[in-house]
Amino acid sequence: MRDGAAMAYQTLKVSTQGAVMTVAVDRPDALNALNNAVWEELLDAFAAAEADDTIRALLLVSASPKSFVAGADIKEFTALDGLGARERSARIMGNYDRLRRLAKPSVAAIEGWCLGGGMELALACDVRVASRTAKFGYPEIKLGIFPGTGGTVLLARLIGAAAAREICLLGEIIDAERAYGLGLVGRVVEPPALEATGRALAERLASFSPVALRECKRVLDAMLDDDMAPHRPTELDAYRTAFDSEDRHEGVAAFIAKRAPSFTGR
Ligand code: COA
Repeated sequence: MRDGAAMAYQTLKVSTQGAVMTVAVDRPDALNALNNAVWEELLDAFAAAEADDTIRALLLVSASPKSFVAGADIKEFTALDGLGARERSARIMGNYDRLRRLAKPSVAAIEGWCLGGGMELALACDVRVASRTAKFGYPEIKLGIFPGTGGTVLLARLIGAAAAREICLLGEIIDAERAYGLGLVGRVVEPPALEATGRALAERLASFSPVALRECKRVLDAMLDDDMAPHRPTELDAYRTAFDSEDRHEGVAAFIAKRAPSFTGR
């Protein structure tokens, strides 16, 4: 791809500089929540990166300081039942896997909200750097669900069972310093340094042997995949059950109506 060229997408900003392809989800009205249209374009961008030998690393960034990605698009949940949600989750789990298993390394440079599916997107990258003002969390529990798109199992595998329990069950928003302490991000920088740090990390990766990177990632992914595989059906089935509950209907309705939910256990 021509240096500096921008690719035309509706919901993404994608450009290349040197050997680095930069991708940002760009739906400012929804804090960059991941809807079906975004996923279609993300998969297209990943495929374009994979197919182009001149691209050696991916850099995922925030399109604005306000938000990296504020999760899955909750408004798309209203049209789904539990079975539909399970099928959607299995499909999107595969999309995160696609990014994680790309032969080319990826860096997430995170500013603003990095929640739910946004955190899953960041966790699918190989390296994470956050602005000091970034905010992380799995708030799904407040909707009457939990991270059921691979995010529960992956988080526990990446940062450990105790920290994953806190993040999944409490649904708290945590700051970048705490995210660093938990091992969610590898480094934290001041906001003005984020772009340059993310780019420098991506360029460093792009300077290494694509063969060595690809093979090393293959080993790291094989371990993770083996470790996670037995638990994925459990996550999908549990997600379906939660999604079919009255509490999930209440949680989603409360979010849309901008009020606090009232959960009954049904
Ligand atoms: N899905 C769909 N729309 C979303 C969204 C999401 N995940 N996150 C934010 N939005 C929308 C809001 O509905 C709002 O739209 P509106 O202007 O049409 O009402 C707009 O983005 C701005 O969000 P708002 O909630 O007004 O911003 P805020 O600064 O008050 O709060 C958050 C920011 C991130 C705390 C809040 O938007 C939030 O909790 N989002 C959901 C996070 C979540 O649960 N993610 C996991 C989803 S499974």
